Amino acid sequence: MKRRSLSAVALGVAAVTVLAACSGGGRGSGEEETAAAGGGFAADATIGVALPWLGTQNWKEAQDLFKSQLEDAGFKALIQAADQKVPQQQQQIESMIEQGAKVIVAAPIDGTQLGSVLEKAKAAGISVIGYDRLIENTDAVDGIVQFGSVRTGELQGQSLLDGLKAEKGDGPYNIELFGGGPADPNAPSFYEGAMSVLQPKIDDGTLVVVSGQTDFTQAATADWDNAKAQARMDSLLSGFYADKKIDGVLSPNDGIARAILTSANQAGQDVPVVTGLDAENESVSLVWAGTQWSTTHKPTVELVAQTVDIIKSLQAGDGMPATDVSADNGKIEVPIYQLDPIIVTKDNAKEVFADDPARLALLK
Ligand code: BGC
Repeated sequence: MKRRSLSAVALGVAAVTVLAACSGGGRGSGEEETAAAGGGFAADATIGVALPWLGTQNWKEAQDLFKSQLEDAGFKALIQAADQKVPQQQQQIESMIEQGAKVIVAAPIDGTQLGSVLEKAKAAGISVIGYDRLIENTDAVDGIVQFGSVRTGELQGQSLLDGLKAEKGDGPYNIELFGGGPADPNAPSFYEGAMSVLQPKIDDGTLVVVSGQTDFTQAATADWDNAKAQARMDSLLSGFYADKKIDGVLSPNDGIARAILTSANQAGQDVPVVTGLDAENESVSLVWAGTQWSTTHKPTVELVAQTVDIIKSLQAGDGMPATDVSADNGKIEVPIYQLDPIIVTKDNAKEVFADDPARLALLK
């Protein structure tokens, strides 16, 4: 992730606009002027939203919030979720192109597998915004709206350390490491952020990964599947902890955290310190009960609002707003509209959810 000066990106946006304006007269290439370059479109246009699945609470919230926020803004919302199947997601995006969407918002199942279909969208004059996850290896993306992924991992790693100190006395601590689905570009970034905090503590002996499984490929959980995480945890506990206590586990999200806690409970272990992500209802209750140490909150309502703001700017003909963060997606530097995640423990839960009545209601 590179931080650039605001003016550099603002200049970049201006340059794109000028280029688009210059090519406007002799548009022989068949490329239509896109809203990302400042063209604008009808106030009641169709907006496509392609979600990867509905297997975690954040995506279900995104589905509902995109519908309400897009409709409140006057747009027609065309929202699809793809059940973790790449061809299904590609097909859904094809159909959004056919139905005349002016913007496609995409959260890829596999960051590298939407290039061709999104290039087709671009050629049809559609603007493309990545949502929550990076869209990789293509220039057919105008920007990504997300919570800092490496930052999310750093917070998770730090929270694991804090929890161990608070709950498990003096070290060294026995821990295990879990990552998310390897096709999701967030998963290696979360892991990288966490390991930037944990690796020095592994190196100095404060943390002991008893299984020795510290590579992302060993820690990853295919498709973010909780059952697969639970099976791996079962075999770690039976293979390496028959006569040892496990003190803590890095978990990349709440579903996997609950799978880890179930496995530890079934193996007769004391409750380990476990991190999470998404502030899912079930995990907020577990944090409040003192069972899950922490979760990481990335409010979907804010991420959707940020995306809809960008869509309004495109609709008005103002192009993509300026931003000072960008990421190399393997092909281009993509502008990133980045929000800050928040760690939630029992100590700060009431403050964090003060304006979130549904979650606040779980804290009793
Ligand atoms: C999202 C998480 C989610 C995970 C699995 C990630 O890309 O950032 O919020 O838990 O996918 O659905």
